[in-house]
Amino acid sequence: MRICMDADYEGMSRRAAAVMADQVRENPRSVLGLATGSSPVGMYAELSRLCRAGQITFRDVTTVNLDEYYGLTPDHEMSYRYFMEKNFFSLIDIPRENTHLPNGASLSPALECSRYDRLIESLGGIDLQLLGIGHDGHIGFNEPSDRFVPDTNYVKLTEETIRANARFFASEADVPRYALTMGIRAIMQAKKILMVVNGEGKADILCRALFGPITPAVPASILQLHPDVTLCADAAALSVIADKYPAAIEK
Ligand code: F6R
Repeated sequence: MRICMDADYEGMSRRAAAVMADQVRENPRSVLGLATGSSPVGMYAELSRLCRAGQITFRDVTTVNLDEYYGLTPDHEMSYRYFMEKNFFSLIDIPRENTHLPNGASLSPALECSRYDRLIESLGGIDLQLLGIGHDGHIGFNEPSDRFVPDTNYVKLTEETIRANARFFASEADVPRYALTMGIRAIMQAKKILMVVNGEGKADILCRALFGPITPAVPASILQLHPDVTLCADAAALSVIADKYPAAIEK
C-alpha cells in the first residue's frame, strides 16, 4: 500500500486526481468505480478542470458507482445519481450511457443487486476503484458486521451513518434508512484501489483500518489484503498513523 500525505484537502485532491488521470490516460477505456461523499468532491473538480482544459478525455471511460440510497429516484436531489451528475458527469465529456449506479427506485432490491453484479462482470470488472471511508470503517455502504458480504447488497444503514449523512439533508429524519451497495468481492477484485480520506475525525478509524486486525467489524480493513492500494490523505487524517507508523507515509 502507498500512503501519500498532503498538507490539506486541496493537495490531497490534486494528487488523487493525478492518480485517476494517469489511469485514464494509460487506458482510455478504463472502467472506473466511483464514490460520492465530501472526500472526493475536490478530486472531481480537479478532473473536470483537466477535462475542460483538454488534458484528459472520458469519452471512452465507463463508470460504476459504489452505492445509492434505496427509495430515491435518480432525479431526487439527494440521490447519488444526482450528486454524480452535479459534481462530475455534467462537467466532463463522458457519454451518460457509460455511467452506472445501482437503481434506488427499483421495486426489487434483490433483482437490482444481481443486475448490478452482472453488469460489473459484463464490463470485465473494475480497473480503478475509488473509495472513501466512513467513521465506522465502512466502504461503500458495507457497514460493520460479523461477515464480509461479497455481492452487491441491500443494507440497513447504521445510526452512525445516518447521523453522519444527515448533514446533506434537511433533517436526520429525511435520510433514507436503506441503501444498495456494491459488495466486497467487486471492490477487492478491482485491479487498483484509490482511497481519499481527509480530516482529523477519520484519523483513528483510518489507522485501525490499515494497521489493525482484518475484520468485518471494520470493513475497510479488508483492503490490507489488496495488492494495489493508493491512499491519498491530508495530514489531519494521517495524524494517528504518522504518530504510530511514521515510516509508512510518503510525503
Ligand atoms: C459514498 C460511499 C461512502 C463514503 C464514506 C465517506 O459513495 O461509498 O462509503 O465514501 O461514507 O464519506 P465522506 O467522504 O462524506 O466522509
